[in-house]
Amino acid sequence: MPLSVSPFSPAGDRHFDGLADKFAGSLYGGPRGALRLALLDRLLPEMLRLEGQRVLDVGGGLGQLSGWFAQRGHAVTLVEPARDMLAHARQALAGQPVAFVDATLQQLPERTPGPWSLIACHAVLEWLSDPRGAMAILAGQLAPGGQLSLMVFNRDALRMSNVVKGNLEKALADRLEGTGKRQRLTPISPLTHSQIEAWAADSGLVVQEVAGIRVFHDYLRHPPGTEADWCRLVALEQHYCRAEPHWRLGRYLLYTLVRPATTT
Ligand SMILES: C[S@@+](CC[C@H](N)C(=O)[O-])C[C@H]1O[C@@H](n2cnc3c(N)ncnc32)[C@H](O)[C@@H]1O
Repeated sequence: MPLSVSPFSPAGDRHFDGLADKFAGSLYGGPRGALRLALLDRLLPEMLRLEGQRVLDVGGGLGQLSGWFAQRGHAVTLVEPARDMLAHARQALAGQPVAFVDATLQQLPERTPGPWSLIACHAVLEWLSDPRGAMAILAGQLAPGGQLSLMVFNRDALRMSNVVKGNLEKALADRLEGTGKRQRLTPISPLTHSQIEAWAADSGLVVQEVAGIRVFHDYLRHPPGTEADWCRLVALEQHYCRAEPHWRLGRYLLYTLVRPATTT
């Protein structure tokens, strides 16, 4: 992308245009991505009521999550505004029951109108200038009784890892968010559990489940040096990802938010 072109959309969101290769390599090409996928593989069936229903995957990126649902018999609609991410996803998911829509979360009401009984939105809200408004839009697309699998980048974990790395001045000033410029992958709107709780309530959603994704890995002084240690780390992450107090410092927070079937 030429330097003179803003990396932000007109709405102020950080679309991942031009970042597909970097994202594929730096996240999914390494242990952080492998661990995230291993944890999701365990947690999604525990945290969601999966009945082969259609899934809307918002900000689906390279398509890993859509692929996970498609392989389990769900027809998926992947919505993504960054053209190169969408092209990668199309290639990766060729032959699977996935439809691709070049659109933003804000365009959902016109482009993929609900109601949907299952919506997934993983690692997207933290890249938006108005994550609270985005939550209301997602809630508006859910059917009564519908589930939203929401994953967000955890601001409290970002503070912790900055302190662990010695970035004390930055942590003390609470200057944690990224600028969204250049090729950096520090989100512009890292979020807290309190914000999600409050915004869910504002949007008429109930927090049914919560887990931390990577509650230990990102604070390690030394990465696991052997296959056996890697397996021990995965076992620890799986064991403590829903336990107090550990889930609260997961790098990401994974929620199941539900729109009640009836309002009283
Ligand atoms: C960190 S990636 C997450 C991708 C995928 N959901 C995952 O978990 O691997 C964030 C994605 O959100 C997309 N995005 C940014 N702004 C968006 C918006 N307003 N509506 C929908 N997606 C958006 C980006 O283009 C990028 O593909």
